[in-house]
Amino acid sequence: MRQSKGSRVITARARSGCRVGDSDRLTDLFRVSCGVYRITSPGRTPHVRRIPSLVCSHGGVSNVLTEFRRALIDCLRRETGFADRSAALVEEYDLGDVAATGQPPSSVAAGLDARSAELLCRVRRFDAGPLGLTLSGPAYRDTPMIYANETLRSLTGYPLDELRGENPRLFQGPETDPDALDTLREAVDVWAEATVELWNYRRDGSRFRNRVSVVPMPDDSGMIANWIGVQAAIDE
Ligand SMILES: Cc1cc2nc3c(=O)[nH]c(=O)nc-3n(C[C@H](O)[C@H](O)[C@H](O)COP(=O)(O)O)c2cc1C
Repeated sequence: MRQSKGSRVITARARSGCRVGDSDRLTDLFRVSCGVYRITSPGRTPHVRRIPSLVCSHGGVSNVLTEFRRALIDCLRRETGFADRSAALVEEYDLGDVAATGQPPSSVAAGLDARSAELLCRVRRFDAGPLGLTLSGPAYRDTPMIYANETLRSLTGYPLDELRGENPRLFQGPETDPDALDTLREAVDVWAEATVELWNYRRDGSRFRNRVSVVPMPDDSGMIANWIGVQAAIDE
């Protein structure tokens, strides 16, 4: 049964740890955050609601994105619970049209090993979500990007064929923060999760502040072949 918007807000509040006194503010922000999605679920009248940009111009929106990031990482790494969890996210965040296109594009899927193809299916379910997503691997070949979702492509201006095969350091430039790079390098070396904020550059050379999380994805033997990257443009 479809939850009412009110109960979804309460769910979001419970997950975000906001106090009850914050509820009105959070209700507004949650509504704003829902507005970034195209809502074209089967059986419902297609319509589009937008906010001006995916950049977190508001602290509260950023809270919702943080929550989304956590939920996303959680469902990507829980193999068995993914179907249920993603269905809940689709409902919670009005991601109806993304659910309908759960398959990787054939041009990308061809030639991927089974593990990467499976991860890609999961990543692709969030193609038009509020966060950039990348799937990278294999790790022993400098973790080149296998896939970048639509949100990251539109944020950076790169088409998929220019990203595939490149390490995400492609987004770096003269003012990219060296300390943040040290953190990322170490995380990749020791197979750990990390989140940093740093300057990145779009294809046209303009820079944006990027909050990047890198998450190792172990295979059945516990080895790390693939990494998930979660990217969000944030206020400077
Ligand atoms: C999955 C994944 C996603 C990444 N996304 C970004 C990114 O969006 N922007 C960025 O500057 N670096 C990103 N990185 C970090 C770089 O790939 C690299 O780890 C970093 O530049 C440090 O290593 P290096 O000194 O070999 O360049 C990402 C790494 C991984 C594993």
